[in-house]
Amino acid sequence: MGRKFCVGGNWKMNGNKAEIAEIVKTLVAGPLDPNTEVVIGCPAVYISYVRGLLPATIGVAGQNSYKVAKGAFTGEVAPAMLKDVGADWVILGHSERRQIFGETDDLIGEKVAHALAEGLKVIACIGETLQERESNKTEEVVFRQMSVLSKYVKDWTNVVVAYEPVWAIGTGKTATPEQAQAVHSVLRKWLVDNVSQAVSDSLRIQYGGSVTAANAKELASQADIDGFLVGGASLKPEFVQIVNAKQ
Ligand code: PGA
Repeated sequence: MGRKFCVGGNWKMNGNKAEIAEIVKTLVAGPLDPNTEVVIGCPAVYISYVRGLLPATIGVAGQNSYKVAKGAFTGEVAPAMLKDVGADWVILGHSERRQIFGETDDLIGEKVAHALAEGLKVIACIGETLQERESNKTEEVVFRQMSVLSKYVKDWTNVVVAYEPVWAIGTGKTATPEQAQAVHSVLRKWLVDNVSQAVSDSLRIQYGGSVTAANAKELASQADIDGFLVGGASLKPEFVQIVNAKQ
């Protein structure tokens, strides 16, 4: 199947130039597994700074972009602008965008479609809340999110899906490898039934939610986990060990 392991660091709204220089030092020192693709999602204003500091082998991502190329959208950033300052990726549909900023499945789908059309690669995030999990709605929720996404994505080549249970994000409560694998595996089955066998075989599905150096290896050993989207730990030296979890 040959899905290349892919680890994203999601710095969220953290860092300044001095702190970024320190984090980058640990990434440059690595060493990082050359068989793992690494992407750093930094605040948009730091993209060109981060791009200038990181080796070309590490990708840089924005954490949001709007659904059209330009216009009267005060405060928004277009994918072409992210590209222009050095990003090759954008993270879209993160649960913080969904929950804090009220982004809907369709808005996220439109953003994904436009970012792909502009030539960015996309990490598209999905995941259920604790309440949804406890009422046995996990599959219903992630299938709905995938189904809306699939209305907007015609070619999945440049898409990575990040399955991030909301209850595991920033809480220190990681999904167990079995819980994560179970969802990844039904997502793959959903892709067979609703997209194609080829996309199911090739689409990388990351796990996100309190990934640390301590739990990364076991999660990485699961058949359908193709990488991670890492928040808190991506700001720390242990991110190197997470990148190398497949070794
Ligand atoms: P966390 O965040 O690793 O801090 O839980 C993950 C994410 O929000 O992508």
